[in-house]
Amino acid sequence: MKSIDNILAQSVFSREDIIQLLSSDVVGRNKLYEKAASVKRNHVGNKVYYRGLVEFSNICFKNCYYCGIRAGNKNINRYDISEDAILKAVKYAHDSHYASVVFQAGERDDDEFIEKVCRLLRKSKEITKGEIGITISVGEQSEEVYQKWFDCGAHRFLLRIESSNRELFNKIHPNNAKHDFDKRIAALRLLKKTGYQTGTGVMIGLPEQTIENLADDILFFEEFDIDMIGMGPYIEHAETPMFEQKDLLWSLDERFNMALKMIATLRLVLPDINIAAATALQAIDQIGREKALKVGANIIMPNITPTVHRTDYQLYQNKPCIDESASDCNNCLEARIKIAGDSIGYGEWGDSLHFKNKK
Ligand code: 5AD
Ligand code: SF4
Ligand code: FES
Repeated sequence: MKSIDNILAQSVFSREDIIQLLSSDVVGRNKLYEKAASVKRNHVGNKVYYRGLVEFSNICFKNCYYCGIRAGNKNINRYDISEDAILKAVKYAHDSHYASVVFQAGERDDDEFIEKVCRLLRKSKEITKGEIGITISVGEQSEEVYQKWFDCGAHRFLLRIESSNRELFNKIHPNNAKHDFDKRIAALRLLKKTGYQTGTGVMIGLPEQTIENLADDILFFEEFDIDMIGMGPYIEHAETPMFEQKDLLWSLDERFNMALKMIATLRLVLPDINIAAATALQAIDQIGREKALKVGANIIMPNITPTVHRTDYQLYQNKPCIDESASDCNNCLEARIKIAGDSIGYGEWGDSLHFKNKK
């Protein structure tokens, strides 16, 4: 077996190397973190880019077994924020020099939804004189819809694969056409074809997930030539079917540490992509997102969803920033990021260098 030092001296990593990095003990993982920090500095710099997150609706027609806002959960208030209120959040982001926003919602494919997203994109560009960069995260859609939204002004898209292992994907989703592994892969291909900077990601610490599965996730991102990643720990939610498997889970600490190792390892494997410090990290550790910045992440998605709706967008329990307003989070984050040693790329889109380098 190679030593961690030998692996960290490489710039190309085999499956075995990745497994070893993900299995590293405290001493090994600290070396990994240090290396990932220097790779981050050298390739993407020490700037964090903001994506103001608007969770604009929790209405979802899917039934993912892990998610608190799945269609089958009858215990939540469903909401669909008005266009005016969403645009107000966009204006807040723009006025605060966040150069980008993310529109995220539960999944729907009806015409009303498709048109609403399109209008939002157009108007967001209009009220910011084209200055705001827009990422959307609204699920699997047809090629026509992806094209339409691209033409309306979105230029990045997030669609997590959740797990790149087909069996595991099938275990965490109902077995039907709405939750189909091949369709998810096909949708990711369409996003790339349409011209989006394409982001994906996985949950870390799912029941029965192995370190080998996680190593394969990293290899999947590499093979797929992905531009952006958002991945974080799986956190059980009592009102979901997967809660029954809670006894199979790694401890929260283990899931958290594995998430940091995944981020650090990914930074070594794909040095020039954008990696988000997922909010779910902060559901386990108060300064979880800042720890992620220290080991390779370079994107943060401050929540700018109007506070009244935040309680109803809990995909997992213990989600942070539920009672805070957009400006509370703004002040809080700025201080935290400075402490982590990074600066904030106010007014800069901070697009994926990997995407630019491909052209
Ligand atoms: N724990 C962690 N992440 C979750 N997501 C959904 N439910 C959970 C959970 N219980 C993630 C999924 C989805 C993203 C929007 O939120 O990866 O793609
Ligand atoms: Fe809907 Fe997304 Fe939750 Fe699945 S993970 S139930 S698609 S909001
Ligand atoms: Fe929301 Fe700190 S980032 S309260």
